[in-house]
This record gives sequence, C-alpha cells and structure tokens, in this order.
Amino acid sequence: MKIVNTIEELSSHLQATRDGGRSIGFVPTMGALHKGHTELMRIAREQNQVVVASIFVNPTQFNNPNDLRNYPRTLDEDLSKCEQIGVDIVFAPTVEEIYPETDTRKFEFGNLDKVMEGKHRPGHFNGVAQVVSKLFDAVDPTRAYFGQKDYQQLAVIRHLVEMLKLDVEIIGCPTIRENDGLAMSSRNMLLTPDQRKSSPLIAKTLFEARNKKEQFSVKELMRWVVNQINSDPLLNVEYFEIANAKTLEPIGNWSESAEAVGCIAVQVGDVRLIDNILF
Ligand code: PAF
Repeated sequence: MKIVNTIEELSSHLQATRDGGRSIGFVPTMGALHKGHTELMRIAREQNQVVVASIFVNPTQFNNPNDLRNYPRTLDEDLSKCEQIGVDIVFAPTVEEIYPETDTRKFEFGNLDKVMEGKHRPGHFNGVAQVVSKLFDAVDPTRAYFGQKDYQQLAVIRHLVEMLKLDVEIIGCPTIRENDGLAMSSRNMLLTPDQRKSSPLIAKTLFEARNKKEQFSVKELMRWVVNQINSDPLLNVEYFEIANAKTLEPIGNWSESAEAVGCIAVQVGDVRLIDNILF
C-alpha cells in the first residue's frame, strides 16, 4: 500500500492505472476509521481494479471550531485498517495541499442544503462540496463510495456530480450498525460510557417508528420519536424531520411521497449523532 501526501505524487501513482484503462474505486474519509468505512473499502475493492482512500479532516465543512478540534484523529490505526482491507493508495494530504488558497466557491443545491443538517450546520454542505470536488479532481475515480448514514450528504454529492458533469459513479452503501443498533460513526468514540449506553435508543426508536407508520400521521410520528428519545436525560433531539426521500422536502402527509426518509440529529453531551430511516 502506498501512502501519499501530495496531489502530484497521487497523480504519478495513478497515471499507469489511467493509461491502462483500469477502474479506480475511491473512498473519501476523514479518518477515525470504523467498520462503516472499511465496508465501503471492501465494496470498492470488489468492484474496482485499484482502490484509493483519502484521509483528510476537512476544515471547511466544520461550522463549529470545537467540533473540528475534537474530531478524532487516529492515523496509524487508520493506515493499518486500509492495508488489511487491500487499499492500494492512501491519500493523506495537509490542509495547505488541498487549500493552497481559500476556497471561495459557493455551490447552489436548491432545497437540498437548506433543510435538516444544512439548516443546523450553515455552510457544512458547501464545505463538503468544496473538498469532494477537489478530491474527485485529484483522484479522477471511476466510482466513489459514500455511506447512507449521511443521507443528506449523499443527496448533495449526487447533485454536485450532476451539476459539475463529473464522470464518476456515486455508490451509496447501507449504514453499518453496532450490535445494539447504534449507527457506526467516528464520533461514537467520543461518547462517555453512560452516553454510549443511552445512544442506541436513537436507532431503536427509528426502527419502531417505521412499524408505526400505518397508525400515526406524519406529525404524530415526528412528535412520538422526539418524545421517546428525549425521555432519556442524556439525549437531546436537535431535529427529526420526515421528508421526501429524493428531494428532501419535508412532507405533511404520507400520501405526498411514495418513499419518505426520517432524518435525525441528537446532541449527546458534546457529541452530535445523526441517523436516518426510510419509510
Ligand atoms: O463523510 C465524510 O466523512 C466527509 O464528509 C467526506 C465525504 C469525507 C468529505 O470530507
């Protein structure tokens, strides 16, 4: 496995792959790798001749400086996980390499970045779009892999690819969960033991909500989910929205959308967890 820090080194390693017409599977990450990431890498390994993973904590997508400071960084462990899964190249650039100058680009996503995460983390998706477009430029992948846990991010990236007319296939992969249902996230390692014990209530409530869809209106179900989760004093729901699964427009009635998604953000002490469920 090659570890490279600059775009130039990356390009020179990938040149032969491109010249030989071989496929490149790309898994962008911010490190602190867990099974959710290694599963993306495993799928990329199955579907491509060459697999590239990036490890880069992107400052432009953090609207909260504390969150950026506290974001877990575990490079050595990350590299050995990449190696085990058969990644060919890890791209681990510095901030200066990705942003030699301030990126002032503003992307227009219509409604997609105005709701839910977009509303609560202003500028977050613009930062994601900035880094993903730069990484796509550097890697020029055939396919790129993202987890469905970040449901809204996946929708924004699909839109970005269409908008910039990029020749890359976006593959959304199922959320990987702990045995108790908690969606895997790099932030889980920041939870105290008590917070960790409380957190599976988020997924448990979402699964139960799916079974209650027939009995409840959209509004009733939204209220029920929030009350259930907030009944644990360590959990504090920031939002729970039920929206059209494609456009992410909030819905008022089940009849408005054949497929709906429920997206949630929960503050657990200083840690913010997100999850979602399809209805
Ligand atoms: O999902 C993430 O880890 C990040 O948002 C991504 C896509 C790697 C961009 O920094």
